[in-house]
Amino acid sequence: MKYDTVLVLDFGGQYCHLIARRIRENGVYSEIVAHDIKPEEIKTLGAKFNIKGLILSGGPASVYEPNAPRPDPQILEQGLPTLGLCYGHQLIAQIIGGKVEPASQREYGIAYVTIDKPVDVLKDLNAKEKVWMSHGDTVSAIPSQYEVLAHTENCPVAAFKHKDKPIHGLQWHPEVVHTKNGAQMLRNFIFAVCKCEVNWKMEDIIEKMVEEIRREVGEGRAIIALSGGIDSSVATVLAAKAIDNRLTAVFVDHGFMREGEPEFVKNVFQEFKMYLIIAQAQKRFLEKLKGVVDPEKKRKIIGEEFIRVFEEISEKTGAEYLIQGTIYPDRIESGFRKFSDKIKTHHNVAGLPSIIKFKRIVEPLRDLYKDEVRKVAKMLELPKEIVFRQPFPGPGLAVRIIGELTEEKVRIAKKADKIVREEIEKSGLEENLWQYFVVLTDTKATGVRGDARAYGYVVAVRAAESREAMTASFAKISYTVLERISTRITNEVPEVTRVVYDITHKPPATIEWE
Ligand code: XMP
Repeated sequence: MKYDTVLVLDFGGQYCHLIARRIRENGVYSEIVAHDIKPEEIKTLGAKFNIKGLILSGGPASVYEPNAPRPDPQILEQGLPTLGLCYGHQLIAQIIGGKVEPASQREYGIAYVTIDKPVDVLKDLNAKEKVWMSHGDTVSAIPSQYEVLAHTENCPVAAFKHKDKPIHGLQWHPEVVHTKNGAQMLRNFIFAVCKCEVNWKMEDIIEKMVEEIRREVGEGRAIIALSGGIDSSVATVLAAKAIDNRLTAVFVDHGFMREGEPEFVKNVFQEFKMYLIIAQAQKRFLEKLKGVVDPEKKRKIIGEEFIRVFEEISEKTGAEYLIQGTIYPDRIESGFRKFSDKIKTHHNVAGLPSIIKFKRIVEPLRDLYKDEVRKVAKMLELPKEIVFRQPFPGPGLAVRIIGELTEEKVRIAKKADKIVREEIEKSGLEENLWQYFVVLTDTKATGVRGDARAYGYVVAVRAAESREAMTASFAKISYTVLERISTRITNEVPEVTRVVYDITHKPPATIEWE
């Protein structure tokens, strides 16, 4: 059976994959394809999928830039329902002969659009809708075969459609949760406009990933980087399903783990009766990071050292393939795509050295978001402690200790972090938090302890709410909990004189500090 499928053309927008997953959430399959896919290629894909529609994603470029990514204009001539979002909306407007110009005022963040005609994609919506905008250009006019469906004060053509053909554009991002009825808008497109049937389910993805690992590794042996986080745990279980005893799981203790982490991983995976190697690599990591302050350098060094440890172990086990639990947001923020901006180097992605001794790196979860991985974990019946663990970055506390890493700083960060975890969990707040942790800053501040002057570290507490880490809000946790955290840290970790709370959303900040 062929799945009804919506293709998302990738113009480098941060939310491109989010569009695909929002569609999949509705039981309709979606794939990301290159922005310049040709109509013939779409036809070829039709042998595999029942292609019902196209979405042109957003992107950081401007349609007048000479090298801006552009679609093949012929894709609008195939009679396939097409929806442009943000930059995609401007591209369609430009192709059809509309007018795109710099907006009189850049709209960024929440905006209220007036819906002039609630039809098709905008069916059943209110006269005013809260949406998420992020654009510097605007569509100011469209040809007469098209009609305007919505506008804002600064954006005369915030939504349009062709009068007879299923071609639509929206200036805003329905895929992000800040667009209040964004889910409804996407449902309108996939069901009312594309006429998709619900014939895809998450379980199908497990089969697809297991098959992929089997195909990639063939008769070879593989090694997997198991950190004990949900991503690598899921990847480990999938890989074990795919290649059985030709898999070795390796947990590298680089020394920047949270308190109790290595013991936890050992306990959980021993129960699974799998072959697990715990590599004690604390000394060599610290040695390599001596004197290094720059966050990107730190990330690269850690990424490289990881690989070296794996290579050494795989030489012993004869593994030619490395499997990793890299998920989609790790890749997008590492700037892996041609037209998206690099935010930071996630260690299991762009931190890899250019010469890798493995034949190939296999990343079965590369297109999934964290909450999709959690769904897969539940389906695989992984223990609850793994399914609901807060994410922990590969480089660990190393990206939460600003500046040079030393044994002393790691010890301080671990102690303070443990306190934050205990207090948040004691208050029952953890269920609603994406992450909660401590950052040891490189700033020192004066305090008073007893009757004496104290001079110690400033520790920042970060607690964030998020659905998939692409955007996040700082959590508005109570002063009572914050007070308990601050009192305990300053009492129990004498090297710390001051505790501050990070009240920055993502964007403009990122979740981790480095
Ligand atoms: P940022 O700090 O970029 O983080 O907002 C987004 C999410 O990704 C996690 N993170 C990482 N995960 N390797 C990982 O596996 C990394 O190098 C890495 N850096 C950040 C972070 O904890 C957050 O959940």
